[in-house]
Amino acid sequence: MRNLINIMDLSAEEIDELIKLANDIIKSPDRYNEACRHKILATLFFEPSTRTRLSFESAMLSLGGSVLGFSEANSSSAAKGESVADTIEVVSGYADIIAMRHPKEGAPIVASSHTSVPIINAGDGGHFHPTQTLTDLMTIYHEKGGFENLTIGLCGDLKFGRTVHSLIGAMSRYKGVKFVLISPEELKLPSFVKQEYIKDKGIEYSQCTSLEDVIGDLDILYMTRVQRERFFNEEDYLRLKDSYILTADKLKSAGESLSILHPLPRVNEISTEIDNDPRACYFRQAHFGRYIRMALIMKLLEVSA
Ligand code: CP
Repeated sequence: MRNLINIMDLSAEEIDELIKLANDIIKSPDRYNEACRHKILATLFFEPSTRTRLSFESAMLSLGGSVLGFSEANSSSAAKGESVADTIEVVSGYADIIAMRHPKEGAPIVASSHTSVPIINAGDGGHFHPTQTLTDLMTIYHEKGGFENLTIGLCGDLKFGRTVHSLIGAMSRYKGVKFVLISPEELKLPSFVKQEYIKDKGIEYSQCTSLEDVIGDLDILYMTRVQRERFFNEEDYLRLKDSYILTADKLKSAGESLSILHPLPRVNEISTEIDNDPRACYFRQAHFGRYIRMALIMKLLEVSA
């Protein structure tokens, strides 16, 4: 049995295999529509979600399986004080695989020690979000044809943005990758990510506060939302929330081959005026989430078409 807690739980070769499988699912969906017959996915979401939960559910239904779960902690017995450990022990008797999102960093690791069914981390606090990274990698693969020799700008809330932490880990394994870290001083990348995935690996990187100064150097621009739910006070959030707004005017300095990604939801950080620009990939990116999650479910349940 395998869990997916951190994107680094998957080797680069396994990620290639998942992308290949997801591409085959897109090409021949009918081959896979019974792959998970009689299997049940539980989606336990202690925090809000649109894409992750619904794409997991769509993925399992498209594989011929079934889904159950809850979409907020208040509609589960967590509201009565039940622990994650007890919740997982119980749900393990109802499902074959569990995708969980929780506001506490490390909650999926606790969960994985209380069950023998695969646990998928669907986002744990400001820590990691490995299945978003699979979605991001599939998008990069489709846009760029591979992962090497890319200059990747990560812009916005690099402190609390769990998708950023997981993407940096994943991309740190490829040759010739450079990171450009663009954030306000207060929302800089945490040292645990910078040290382990950038400095210890000798990867070239730079840090700055101005998107305009660097946009012309980038192959990929990964925009992120300022994560209101992780702030200790509203005043700080209001001061920082509009630090970066990507507009058509700012895009004039970018290269024609730039790919703009965003894990979504967006609030204000990308103007809707660029949604139809061919460089805007974020809705295609969200749609890839369904197929790469189908591939992941199949891998963790060890089923084939
Ligand atoms: N990208 C992402 O995790 O979106 P949701 O919060 O809607 O799941």
